[in-house]
Amino acid sequence: MVATLTETARSPGLLAARPPGRRVLTALPTLSPRLLVPRLRAGPAPFPLGGAEVRRYYFARNAVWEAARLLGLAGHEVLVPAYHHGVEVEALVAAGAVPRFVRVDARMRLDLEHLEQSVGPRTRALYVIHYLGFPQPMDALLALARRRGLAVLEDCALALLSRDGAEPLGARGDVGIFCLYKSLPVPNGGILALNRPLDAAGPARAAPLASTLSHATGSLLAHLARRGGPAGEAVREGLRRSQRAVRAALHVGPLATGTMHFDPAAADVGMSALTRVILENVDFEEAVQARRRNWFLLFARLRELAPPVQLELPPGVCPLFYPLLVEDKAGVAERLAARGIETVEFWNTGHPACDEAGFPEVAALRRRVLELPLHQDLDPDDMAYLAAAVEEALP
Ligand SMILES: Cc1ncc(COP(=O)(O)O)c(C=O)c1O
Repeated sequence: MVATLTETARSPGLLAARPPGRRVLTALPTLSPRLLVPRLRAGPAPFPLGGAEVRRYYFARNAVWEAARLLGLAGHEVLVPAYHHGVEVEALVAAGAVPRFVRVDARMRLDLEHLEQSVGPRTRALYVIHYLGFPQPMDALLALARRRGLAVLEDCALALLSRDGAEPLGARGDVGIFCLYKSLPVPNGGILALNRPLDAAGPARAAPLASTLSHATGSLLAHLARRGGPAGEAVREGLRRSQRAVRAALHVGPLATGTMHFDPAAADVGMSALTRVILENVDFEEAVQARRRNWFLLFARLRELAPPVQLELPPGVCPLFYPLLVEDKAGVAERLAARGIETVEFWNTGHPACDEAGFPEVAALRRRVLELPLHQDLDPDDMAYLAAAVEEALP
């Protein structure tokens, strides 16, 4: 099965058998109605949302495609980590770039030696992915790029609001690419940060209303399920079913978030006005602090039983989720779903051009990483509930 954010988020189990004390922990932060009231933020939003030279797209994949075009990558090789989502590679390939895959180790660190060895006469760029908010070694990567005359694309789709110490991720490469809806309760949004003068026109078309409203409604319902007890959960389940029918009738499928595919025909679609309204209301610092606190709480409870991929949370890092390493991803996900906990089978497969036989650590990560939620909606009691459920769910 293909692993994507929305496709593999599991819905909570049967409501009829809802045990006392049950909670709903959603995979993504949910949209509270109070975030929909238009107002103007008092201070500037953090990078890349405030003040920077950016282009705002519907998806991050559109930003990848545009970046490849701006950096003249068509017909050239780009060094891409073997551990990737797949859609970013699709966007590069659609723009005419030729991916060459580079080793990533068992702790999700790019192998700098293999990277350097892989630079050839046709190589034009390095594609760096900051996994789950954890920085790759940018000093060394930028030095290598300078030495070999390469452009650097920093993919921060999983690293919005994250910093390497004081330095925001995505600000040092030629371009930074961000996905908003994985970290914030917005219906869509991908950002291209232009960190040096590049002549980017930006998206030409507005975000389609039907697909924007469909995602926003889904997130409002998730909020209701979390806060509204059994009745809220039941309303969400019922409306979700009818929403799927409405979505199909409105043909909003092509702009569904969480899919593995890049559609060049939608490459020029922009971010919605609704996303802008929500962004004015989000407390970014609170989101970062809540995620860090939740990471520490989970780590304290689970590190003996199930240590995460990264054993430290460096200053400034805004973790996207807790990467639980398990042998039976699907089974553990199923048991957690029965307790109202949505997880994601993270990146089960990659782009077909990458032969995983040459990357055993990546194959192991694809087989074993299960995403546990720790986002800003969740409080310390949720973390205690989640940790207890994991302790029971593991064999
Ligand atoms: C590393 C990475 N880059 C880019 C993307 C594309 O993001 P979007 O869904 O906003 O196009 C994803 C999506 O999951 C991703 O994981």
